[in-house]
Amino acid sequence: TVGNSTNIKWHECSVGKIERQSLLEQKGCVIWITGLSGSGKSCVACALNQILYKMGKLAYILDGDNVRHGLNRDLGFKAEDRAENIRRIGEVAKLFADAGVICIASLISPYRRDRDACRAILPDGYFIEVFMDVSLEVCEARDAKGLYKLARAGKIKGFTGIDDPYEVPLNCEIVLKNNGGSPCEMAEKVTSYLEQKGFLQ
Ligand code: PPS
Repeated sequence: TVGNSTNIKWHECSVGKIERQSLLEQKGCVIWITGLSGSGKSCVACALNQILYKMGKLAYILDGDNVRHGLNRDLGFKAEDRAENIRRIGEVAKLFADAGVICIASLISPYRRDRDACRAILPDGYFIEVFMDVSLEVCEARDAKGLYKLARAGKIKGFTGIDDPYEVPLNCEIVLKNNGGSPCEMAEKVTSYLEQKGFLQ
């Protein structure tokens, strides 16, 4: 029995991960970008996607905001909904990585336990956590979507950083700081890491 399913069996196919990796000349993995709203997750995800594309590498972005328009449209922002949002994106990211794609997941994912659960379902080294280390003050000053203002006015309840927690990663692979340069320069730190770890060959 798996979850609520009984009498299910795993099927293997002779075309597997190794074959897909050699076809694509890359190793599928998950780049998990976490940070406050307005910390620049989506910009870095996009810049990373562009750099990889220019290198001839296949990546795909799973953005929290976007996935909430479809697969996760039934979820809100209470702790258990966020946990389910993160769990589903983690599972989808795992499928992309297995398909050989460099999957860039970009979502607040405020709780350490939820991020660690996504790490735990991937092979060692294939979950690369990237922390957007940008202070609340800076994110709030940017307030590109005007959501911090609404949260401060009490018009959005349970907003991350205001009246809902954000748990800073303790053992992430990459930290990108606010003064770390343009989205492109920050994304290059991620591509260097991928190169160094042999994901791009
Ligand atoms: S989470 O916590 O990982 O499930 O969130 P995520 O799927 O990344 O969605 C975050 C975006 O939703 C908008 N939004 C909120 N964020 C935080 N708290 C509350 N209550 C909230 N309500 C709406 C917000 O635009 C987030 O987008 P980003 O891109 O992070 O700014």
